[in-house]
Amino acid sequence: MQAIEEIIADTPLDGIEMRLMQPEGRANPYPIYRRLREEDPVHESPMMGGWFLSRHEDVSLIRDGRFVQRGPGFEEAFAQLADADAAAWGKMSSGFMLSMDPPDHTRLRSLVTKAFTPRAVEALRSRIREIVDELIGNLRSHGEADLISEFAYPLPITVICELLGVGSDRERFRPWSAAIGKALDYDMPDVMREASRAAEEMTEYFMPIIDERRRRPGDDLLSALIAAEEDGDRLTRDEVIANLVLLLFAGHETTVNLIGNGVLALMSNRDQWDHLREDPSLARHGVEELLRYDSPVQLTSRNASVDIELDGKCINAGQHVIFLLGAANHDPAVFSNPDDLDLGRSDVRHLSFGGGIHFCVGAPLARLEGGIAFESLVAAFPDLHLATQELVWRQMLVLHGLQELPVALK
Ligand code: HEM
Repeated sequence: MQAIEEIIADTPLDGIEMRLMQPEGRANPYPIYRRLREEDPVHESPMMGGWFLSRHEDVSLIRDGRFVQRGPGFEEAFAQLADADAAAWGKMSSGFMLSMDPPDHTRLRSLVTKAFTPRAVEALRSRIREIVDELIGNLRSHGEADLISEFAYPLPITVICELLGVGSDRERFRPWSAAIGKALDYDMPDVMREASRAAEEMTEYFMPIIDERRRRPGDDLLSALIAAEEDGDRLTRDEVIANLVLLLFAGHETTVNLIGNGVLALMSNRDQWDHLREDPSLARHGVEELLRYDSPVQLTSRNASVDIELDGKCINAGQHVIFLLGAANHDPAVFSNPDDLDLGRSDVRHLSFGGGIHFCVGAPLARLEGGIAFESLVAAFPDLHLATQELVWRQMLVLHGLQELPVALK
């Protein structure tokens, strides 16, 4: 296979963003980002009908209230989903707090953030350690294993299910999650229909659980969300279900990639693994650098609510803007030697959790899970090695991660 660096060097700038959709670009988007940052940082894409921002300074505009979720084209896009026989997905996804602007967003987010304060999350530390120890115990009986399916996936799905109080039904969540993940990447009718089927099945799955929790509230986040629904008109049943699904999805798909991409980065930069081996407590701070180096979420998007001038170009009201978080994280204007992994790097101002009003609610939890995972893995398997040179990446762009990560444990 031709190296992505060579492919990109020969690609005209016009349409270069389409390379992000190809397998080589999904596996390693950084050479594409470099050209965009250096040659056309505010890049118009007639093919995608929008703009790509790649410099740290511009991607930081994600905090700017002029970029919104529901711009002038929102109603139209929603109607298209209904026409494409994907109304259930349209209804569910538009109920995600992530798809909302203030004041609806503020109302939903305030209910959820209470459960995710650093203090509340810190209380989960010992339970997360228990889950990690159990998974590592299972791994000890293997000479080789797929670290994604045996460790990176079960850890966050178990934690988020327990936190929400919905019992771990991993195998049922897996295809639903995959359908949602694809819908974030491609707005093709069959993908939307599949996401819509998943939305219907999830609604059916969660209805009786919600009824049960209404009768017998527990000490979990789902009970807190239901209580809010009963408070009057603050949170409707559809909103409870939509945001339960969002938390379940966002709470594990991303963290799987933090662990998978992080372990791969450490295997590919052995000196950094060795530092961690000498001092596993470095993981707590090092997790920030791993988040920066190969971000689990590579991009997010908004609509311009008004005309916005940037770098001498005009982004018109209603146009779609893609914020390349992964490109910002490798901007040499902010990070020295940005393509080097350096766990000791100070002041890692990465944008991997976004920024502004939608800044990741689960960031403290993701940091805690990641820190414990890396610290425990290096302590248990100091000689960990990749067991393949043929890495298979998931065919997704927004969520950047490996399909499998075969490792030798001894
Ligand atoms: C390494 C792990 C994670 C990464 C890289 C990540 C990344 C992100 C990013 C980039 C956003 C902002 C998206 C935007 O502005 O368009 C976001 C929002 C969000 N994340 Fe995370 N996330 C992670 C883990 C989690 C976890 C563990 C949870 C839940 C327990 C979670 C729940 C959410 C929610 C609910 C939002 C929407 C917040 C809002 O709209 O106000 N995430 N995340």
